[in-house]
Amino acid sequence: MKTRICGTGSALPKRKVTNDDLSKILDTSDEWIRSRTGICARHLAVEESLTSLAADAAKEALDEAKINPRELDLILAATLSADHLVPSLSCELQRELGAENAAAFDINAACSGFLFALQTADVYIKSGQYQKILVVGGEILSRLMDWNDRSTCVLFGDGAGAAVVLPDETSGILGSVQGSDGARGEALLCENRKNNNPYIANGTGLSYVSMNGQEVYKFAVRTVPKAILEAIKKAGLAIEEIDLFVLHQANIRIIESVSKRLKVPMEKFPTNLESCGNISAGSVPILLDHINKKGMLHKGDHIVLAGFGAGLTWGASVLTW
Ligand code: ACO
Repeated sequence: MKTRICGTGSALPKRKVTNDDLSKILDTSDEWIRSRTGICARHLAVEESLTSLAADAAKEALDEAKINPRELDLILAATLSADHLVPSLSCELQRELGAENAAAFDINAACSGFLFALQTADVYIKSGQYQKILVVGGEILSRLMDWNDRSTCVLFGDGAGAAVVLPDETSGILGSVQGSDGARGEALLCENRKNNNPYIANGTGLSYVSMNGQEVYKFAVRTVPKAILEAIKKAGLAIEEIDLFVLHQANIRIIESVSKRLKVPMEKFPTNLESCGNISAGSVPILLDHINKKGMLHKGDHIVLAGFGAGLTWGASVLTW
């Protein structure tokens, strides 16, 4: 039995902010951001909540899969920026969708979150415990940014993507890998908690996302090709048999480096970071939906999905569409 993606969906906030817009509020430029990251614009949530974005994405995915929300057994949401610490995004989504028969919980594996959630869904389906699962990845990272820190706030965007997965005899996930390296977690950090515990000195305050960009870059370009090759091997395929590589959209230079290391042409690496920025757990499912809607996915195609990010964490899956 395989776990097959039968429907995808995505939602971006209405407000689009270009690099030129940012250069009016920060000491930055379109040239700096574009040349170092490939990002030209991102969408920022002004009126939307993460729950509303995730619900819009989920409805599209459910429509394509022809699944009524009441049929869902499980909702898995990958995020590090849920509207509330509790209830979780997945529980809020369950309420929004009226998916009253589903269990629901969140997974935090940062930019690898969607891969970890998809692989969790795969294990549930293979075990026979659940049949119809909604997997969502989404973020409102703009609420975790220090908007005075030009080295981070220009990189990220907001949005949500969704996939409905069902058991299938022939198509679906063929092989997966995942990994974590907590010892290097400080490379990308966010302690977004208010704390007024009277027994802790200086306990109040919020911190924002901080990143050692060069450490994250080195980690990504070394780890992602290895993880992809391992997942392809587990799937019993050769790299030449892969039609598309759908990678986490952190930075075009990381994707170019992975393409070079794998000796696979950039044409096989679709991107949307130009217009979306880095949406952490939302990147992979949003890009998957964008290419699905463009008609770039054909039955029988072999696709690699790969995520990497804070934790540090990484995950890759190979599937037949
Ligand atoms: N605009 C203009 N100048 C800037 C900006 C900005 N937005 N941000 C930083 N600078 C300046 C710095 O202050 C520094 O100036 P200085 O030399 O006078 O001190 C200079 O640019 C170079 O800064 P670096 O941080 O060294 O820039 P670098 O070339 O390493 O690029 C980047 C930064 C793009 C983040 C790079 O390290 C990178 O690609 N890292 C990969 C990590 C990544 O993409 N993370 C995304 C999130 S993590 C994830 O999703 C996995």
